[in-house]
Amino acid sequence: LTVDWDPEAAEKEGYPHFMLKEILEQPTALRNTLKDRIQGDRVNLDYLNITPEYLKGLRSISIVACGTAYHAGLIGKELIEGLLRIPVEVSVASEFRYRNPLVDEKTLVIVVSQSGETADTLAALRESKRRGAKVLAITNVKGSSVAREADFMFHTVAGPEIAVASTKAYTTQLLGFYLLTLYFGQLLGKEMPKELYSGLKELPVLAQKVINETEKRIESLIKPFEGWGDCFFIGRSLDWHVAEEGALKLKEISYIHAEAYAAGELKHGTLALIEKDIPVIALATQLDVYEKTISNIKEVKAREGYVIALVQEGDTETAKSVDQVLEIPKVPSLLTPILTVLPLQLISYHVAVARGCDVDKPRNLAKSVTVE
Ligand code: G6P
Repeated sequence: LTVDWDPEAAEKEGYPHFMLKEILEQPTALRNTLKDRIQGDRVNLDYLNITPEYLKGLRSISIVACGTAYHAGLIGKELIEGLLRIPVEVSVASEFRYRNPLVDEKTLVIVVSQSGETADTLAALRESKRRGAKVLAITNVKGSSVAREADFMFHTVAGPEIAVASTKAYTTQLLGFYLLTLYFGQLLGKEMPKELYSGLKELPVLAQKVINETEKRIESLIKPFEGWGDCFFIGRSLDWHVAEEGALKLKEISYIHAEAYAAGELKHGTLALIEKDIPVIALATQLDVYEKTISNIKEVKAREGYVIALVQEGDTETAKSVDQVLEIPKVPSLLTPILTVLPLQLISYHVAVARGCDVDKPRNLAKSVTVE
């Protein structure tokens, strides 16, 4: 008996790479992660058994993770501090575990890990518990070490993620932070913005829209990267953190050197690296700092960089100053990260394919880093 198909190809369901399959699965992953967790104007995570008394007794929250999961944590911090006014620290697990972290029974530690097996993250979890903190895990693997050892567990229902570069795990981790923040707000008796509840429910449909739009324009979006070994990502506030994730995606799979900057930091050094036609991806979706970001974009254009801007629908201003504009649907500024990261993932993927890279298994990298 001979079998003329290979099981890996079967699992890819016709897609050339797991990464593309997983990018395109995001609307479904978001839908599955939302399922039954928003009921009307309420988030229901009662299964966690976290009490208002426990939350009221917290002095701080500490988020610990590695890689893409760390980038999700950076957004988590903005949400929690912005909406709950609880101080949050975000650490990469390999740093956290070797310093003397300010963690005790008045700290909630949130560890974020797709696999739930990353050695440094697991060690950080254990160290936090040893110091008396309770640990909440945001993970994609229910039976993982992190899930088993944490006190509370939020499961991201993204389904198996095979490609080394994380995509659907990231967007569902972000969703986890939105849901947890709103839920904690409810428990603490705080008024949470109503538009976030309806906005979250719309995200799966809007994510599909952004994916479709980006795919339609992908040829022209990846063209500026031809022949370049460097690229910059800029943004302010939440856009900056998404920019960091965008830069990581491009680096890990296309081997293009990419850096993300808080747009306001440009003139403190990086502007010196901007030269004619160098690709710069600028995110300008945060309305409270919009004007400031546009002026940074103009600084890049004045040095003849090639700017692709991501803006919210209806923004006609930015188009006047940049080379290409990609619109994302109008949503409250707090919710943009789940949408803005999608074009960044797709651009990285297609740039890497065009450069002939091994997209699903980039050189030197592993899906799950279980050694120290
Ligand atoms: C590796 C993977 C990344 C991932 C990171 C953390 O570096 O290549 O995609 O973000 O580990 O993994 P975890 O499973 O803990 O989220």
